[in-house]
Amino acid sequence: MSNTRIASYVEENAARFIDELKALVRIPSVSTLHEHKGDVRQAAEFLVAQLREQVGMNIVELVETAGQPLVYAEHLGAPGKPTILIYGHYDVQPADPVELWRTPPFEPTVEGEDLRGRGAVDDKGPMFATIKALETLMRVEGALPVNVKVLIEGEEESGGESIEAYVKAHPERLQADCVLVLDTGMVERGVPTISYGLRGIAYAEIVARGASQDLHSGVYGGIAPNPLQTLAWVLTDLKGRDSRVNLPGLYEMMQPLAPKEQAALARQSKLQERELMTSGGLSVLPGEEGFSVAERAAARPTFEVHGIRGGFTGEGAKTVIPAEATAKVSLRLVPGQKPETVLELLARRVRELASPGIALEVRPLHGGDGALLPLDSPVLKIAAAALEEEFGREVAFMREGGSIPVVALFDSVLHAPIVMLGFSLPDDNVHAPNEKFYLPNYYAAIRTVATFLKRL
Ligand code: BES
Ligand code: MN
Ligand code: MN
Repeated sequence: MSNTRIASYVEENAARFIDELKALVRIPSVSTLHEHKGDVRQAAEFLVAQLREQVGMNIVELVETAGQPLVYAEHLGAPGKPTILIYGHYDVQPADPVELWRTPPFEPTVEGEDLRGRGAVDDKGPMFATIKALETLMRVEGALPVNVKVLIEGEEESGGESIEAYVKAHPERLQADCVLVLDTGMVERGVPTISYGLRGIAYAEIVARGASQDLHSGVYGGIAPNPLQTLAWVLTDLKGRDSRVNLPGLYEMMQPLAPKEQAALARQSKLQERELMTSGGLSVLPGEEGFSVAERAAARPTFEVHGIRGGFTGEGAKTVIPAEATAKVSLRLVPGQKPETVLELLARRVRELASPGIALEVRPLHGGDGALLPLDSPVLKIAAAALEEEFGREVAFMREGGSIPVVALFDSVLHAPIVMLGFSLPDDNVHAPNEKFYLPNYYAAIRTVATFLKRL
């Protein structure tokens, strides 16, 4: 069977596949930072060239948007066969803190079996693996076994507004019988994983403003309001030491978890706890009491502080009462909790927490819906079989704590089954310094996607 031909093609071209992925990782396509706008575009152009020249798809477009460009490609050369829409993102998180990287974040480095670099596993490696799978099929079989549409965005890490507008404007163009996403994780190395859930997210900045200028803390200490102090009060009020989120209405919006799933998550917890502790360098996993780790990590809402800015943070001491302070925060959401509504609840609650002389403002940055996908679709079975053949082990079904906002939109607009195949490992340092891609997973992803498409 030609599965061995797929494997041989991947093996013969492995060195080039690595070089091409390195070239992509070298482009610092950080979508949230304006100074990288040109780099983001360059990454999109790189993919356009790949889809045109290496894969040879019939239609390949760089789609201009109000934000970062999208890459769209189409090859509908298999009449009567199903159509698959493949999604990925080519933008990456900021690399900071850069001093904690062992090698520069945008100088991709192979060390042992890992390729290190920002974006290596989120999502350049897995996304590019789908392109290499298409190339492999084209070269080995001379054609694609199904009709293929490819949609790759450059704004996933910064809110994904442009793809949202595009999907809403072109539902017929994107129509497909199934959607394939390679942007999630594996339970642990060697365990093939399909994700069936993602959390939603609501991201905002809380700004606290006091005096019109910084003040001497000797002259004004004891009489002037301190925005950093008020911000600290607000943050501790929003989440107590019991890890409950104090936003009236938040838990009421949740769809209850089925006892069966709760039990399944509790069983999975045992496996995940150990892995999460070692990968995260943790000795405890504190959080809401009465819920398993797997449930807390994927099926409960959260509130997290990402950064606080304000006052004096330089070397040494400076006695100052700052005029302004800001905190970046987000809530992870579960089915039933709409980001727009949650951002309103947050704004209302923060207003209630004001203290004399301090103006508090909530600036929403972005929001995205979570997704919970059915586990009984036939394409999921085909995908699971392809994964099991590749890894020689039974597939684990995982509910993810992370978010990919466009997935919920695909679900509601396209009404097609969505398959999320995970290839990032718990210790791949996603969003952290020294992000890496375990290269055996790169080849595994290419082969699995090629096999899956053949069997659709
Ligand atoms: N690929 C991740 C989502 C993810 C992370 C899935 C870990 C499974 C495991 C994605 O790129 C991501 O980081 N999304 C952001 C979304 C946000 C910025 C809208 C996230 O989850 O923080
Ligand atoms: Mn990602
Ligand atoms: Mn990410």
